[in-house]
Amino acid sequence: MSSTNDGVTSGSPRAFAVRILINRFDRSSGFDAQLASEAFLGLEPRDQVLVKELINGTCRWRGTIDFFISALSRKPLSRLDKEVLWILRTAIYQIVFLRVPNHAAVNEAVSLCRHFRKRSAAGFVNGLLRSFLRGRPEIPEDHSVESLAIRFSHPSWLVERYVNRFGLAKAKRLLSRNNTVPEPVVWVNPFKTTRELFLERLRAEGIEAAPLGQLPAAAVIKAPRFHEHPLYREGSCFFMDPSSQRIANLVDLSRCEWVADVCSAPGGKAMILASQLRPEARLICADSSWRRLDQMKKRFEHHGVRGVSLALADLTGQAPWRAQFDFVLADVPCSGLGTIRSNPDVRWSVHPAELDRYHIRQLQILRNAFAGLKPGGEMVYSTCSTEVEENEEVVNAFLQSQKNAAVFGDFIRTFAEEASGDGFFAARIRRL
Ligand SMILES: C[S@@+](CC[C@H](N)C(=O)[O-])C[C@H]1O[C@@H](n2cnc3c(N)ncnc32)[C@H](O)[C@@H]1O
Repeated sequence: MSSTNDGVTSGSPRAFAVRILINRFDRSSGFDAQLASEAFLGLEPRDQVLVKELINGTCRWRGTIDFFISALSRKPLSRLDKEVLWILRTAIYQIVFLRVPNHAAVNEAVSLCRHFRKRSAAGFVNGLLRSFLRGRPEIPEDHSVESLAIRFSHPSWLVERYVNRFGLAKAKRLLSRNNTVPEPVVWVNPFKTTRELFLERLRAEGIEAAPLGQLPAAAVIKAPRFHEHPLYREGSCFFMDPSSQRIANLVDLSRCEWVADVCSAPGGKAMILASQLRPEARLICADSSWRRLDQMKKRFEHHGVRGVSLALADLTGQAPWRAQFDFVLADVPCSGLGTIRSNPDVRWSVHPAELDRYHIRQLQILRNAFAGLKPGGEMVYSTCSTEVEENEEVVNAFLQSQKNAAVFGDFIRTFAEEASGDGFFAARIRRL
């Protein structure tokens, strides 16, 4: 087995998928970075599609798949080699969800044992998969948290939260929707084109494309591998969840002179903010990560974004500017638990104890972001989380200590169950 600098394995698409999954959960190496590696991009397009399907699908159904493996293995999952466990998980995903012929899935899994130098496990993998094919362990059908966790493939702690908060019926709808694949939505870039021209051109090429809801620049595109289309390559659009677009469109910026986006990388919402400003207005995009700022700079150049300055700033401390802004967006770092549909791995990587740590950091960032507002200015605090510790509880704690702040309108929540996009939270806050 050969391995590149970024740890992504060369070899068959199935070997790639297993290595990417191990890197994701054992080395915290995100899918995006791994899928941008040279090794992955060197694969045939068809194989790239299969790798993505295997990593996303196996994460989506990991809870159910692990139930099957536990029922058939004498060893507990925690004592299986990680390579062996992921080989089994991806094989069962293929058998149940991809309708790969049974014998092919088993043979591939056995040869992956050799590929990952786990020859001694080949017999175990072969035996377990053949037992699975002879008879699938029955999934419990009651309404207990454990049963829902297996059936809907979520960690028990998250199922318990949903049930306690929303009741059984709504929790089940939410769990079920979390396992669906979102439709591909783009933001059409007004620095390059208009949505009308963009859609006209796609339709003329026979590509199914339509405007989306109330959002001024959103479009649903039904075309496989649209990221290879010239319009995508030249920066006329990029993929962006509709809820995310909605957050950036909450406030009318046409009268603002000074605007800040204080947690701005990779810059999706910043581009929407920039597109709404008058030419003489300024947008400061800050982030605490130099690497992410640099990537954002290149992204802005590629997309023709104008009127933006970048700043390296850690908003858990005092910001490097005065109280000068008419509008500030604080789209803070969060657990990402609202994005389970788009990122099926998130449900397995977040630990509930982390929510309190996020809360503390989010509150610090909110306070320091607010300090940049001039009197009468407005800000949006937002997360892509559904959890109250990161949302309502942060804003309420902030309001208790900040007497010159007031929430404007209701909290905005886009739970994946109702909206077409991810689960987002936003609060509009005024400086009095
Ligand atoms: C949710 S992402 C922002 C997404 C962005 N608004 C968009 O729409 O593309 C959060 C960002 O906050 C940055 N960040 C994390 N801690 C920070 C801090 N203490 N101060 C400023 N930025 C921070 C991260 O580097 C990350 O880029």
